[in-house]
Amino acid sequence: MKAIEIRNKYLNYFKNQGHSIIPSAPLIPENDPSVLFNTAGMQPLVPYLLGEKHPAGVRLTDYQKCVRTNDIDEVGDNRHLTFFEMLGNWSLGDYFKKESIKYSFEFLTKELQIPVEKLSVTCFAGDEDCARDEETAKAWKEVGIPEERIYYFGKDDNWWIAGTEGPCGPDTEMFYDTGKPKCSENCNPSCSCGKYVEIWNNVFMEFYKNKDGKYTKLTQRNVDTGLGLERMTMLLQGKETPFDTELFLPIMQKLESLQKVNDINSRRIVAEHLRSSMMIIADGGRPSNIDRGYVLRRLIRRMIRHLNKLQISLDELSNLIDINVENLKEMYPELEQNRETIKNVMLEEKDKFAKTLEHGEKEFIKEMNKLKEAGKNILDGKIVFKLYDTYGFPPEVTEDLAKENGLEIDKAEFEKLFKEHQELSRQGAEQKFKGGLADQNEKTISYHTATHLLHKALKVVLGDHVRQSGSNITEERLRFDFTHPQKMTPEEIKKVEDLVNEQIQRDLKVTCEEMSYDEAKASGAIGLFTNKYGDRVKVYTIGDFSKEICGGPHVEHTGDMGTFKIKKEESSSSGIRRIKAVLIK
Ligand code: ALA
Repeated sequence: MKAIEIRNKYLNYFKNQGHSIIPSAPLIPENDPSVLFNTAGMQPLVPYLLGEKHPAGVRLTDYQKCVRTNDIDEVGDNRHLTFFEMLGNWSLGDYFKKESIKYSFEFLTKELQIPVEKLSVTCFAGDEDCARDEETAKAWKEVGIPEERIYYFGKDDNWWIAGTEGPCGPDTEMFYDTGKPKCSENCNPSCSCGKYVEIWNNVFMEFYKNKDGKYTKLTQRNVDTGLGLERMTMLLQGKETPFDTELFLPIMQKLESLQKVNDINSRRIVAEHLRSSMMIIADGGRPSNIDRGYVLRRLIRRMIRHLNKLQISLDELSNLIDINVENLKEMYPELEQNRETIKNVMLEEKDKFAKTLEHGEKEFIKEMNKLKEAGKNILDGKIVFKLYDTYGFPPEVTEDLAKENGLEIDKAEFEKLFKEHQELSRQGAEQKFKGGLADQNEKTISYHTATHLLHKALKVVLGDHVRQSGSNITEERLRFDFTHPQKMTPEEIKKVEDLVNEQIQRDLKVTCEEMSYDEAKASGAIGLFTNKYGDRVKVYTIGDFSKEICGGPHVEHTGDMGTFKIKKEESSSSGIRRIKAVLIK
């Protein structure tokens, strides 16, 4: 069965079970500055998992494009992908464990015709936060999974949350037995030997984990599921890797025909990163030196380096893009619609990188000669970092080059410098998310502080569910997007204005402290709720009123900011309100 057939079967099956098919959200979250890319089907649905009404109802299904980059350096083995598609179905306060398991079982065994003997499942073993999930195990037994293929594990395996804060709960995972022999007597689905492959995860979202690590019950019990399409395609086709399925075969074959050096890992890296970066560009991503743009840049550069390794001319890039567009356009029409943009962006990045590669190699040779003259054979971390930072050389390239020349590199020192660099880019990202503060002046700085006061005032007046989902500042106004299910009443607007103005009149002192991310969380600071970067953050405190993780800058005292006035309160997208406000002097 082809991937697209599996996708269609899935959506149809859940449609027949009363689910509405909703479109895949773009890879780049529209209203969530806390994550770089959508990493799971549930991410665009968070407001609805927290109780907001979804216009399409309480049963939803979709396919969601996802990018996960924690594993970027592992791509090239037979499992890891940075871009993948997740099929999902959701119950928003509707059905729960029993029905969800019934649907999953029926879909796997009837629609996909996977023999029951191939399936094993895992359930949550229970701890002080949540009881052992006997209900789930019972539901599995009832549909026909024998006891000996039902396993229990703790939070590490059978608990799901996106990041560190948010809706979460115990999950049950389904595993496909590839038929390989057990690696040991104790081999079980949590083992990574490759006998068991995880195919589907059903999360029973009953809890909310807050920034202090405390769990509270959600107002509604949800089901959130995720089935990895590439993996399922590979298993159903009896293939060893996703690269052997129709999703990657045309590009893999083309690379094989062009290569002058045979290297399967490099072919996989090129094929994977090419698809991933095309998808990101089609959804609006562009290479840059920070956050999302930097991930894209890394993907493209890594791909180019491996094209070089295969000794494939970079002039082939345009053809390779065409092959992928043709192969994938039925599944992702946005690739065809954005073909020219994808080419322009990729080719421009390729030209830039080709130059830096050349310059970087020259720099490397220079440094190497110096080292040899000094009779040393370890390239120090500063040089590795310089090659990385200025010339775009990932450390493994430098390491490769070093090895070829009988040298070693000081990786520990490189990593230290790299961490410091990440911290800087994290702060840069925060500033960007907080509203493009590239040119800061008195006005934009006042608006920035006003944004913090507004954020807190909204939480006080409307409730703790208010969460910043976007912010933009110009010299003329601030714009603030936040989660809230309905239009604010004129009284609520007035209350928020009054509360902000009160703080301005109190002439509160604004202070800034640097601390670890965990300390910031423990201090009750609000702000980005997943920590994707380094672990030092800045926390801005405004008197006794607000405490927020932020890159700054801010006014020193609130007294001179002017009078705060909300000009507009409107819907920004479903479940997200948008306020435009000014400071009048
Ligand atoms: N959100 C769950 C996951 O990503 C289904 O595995």
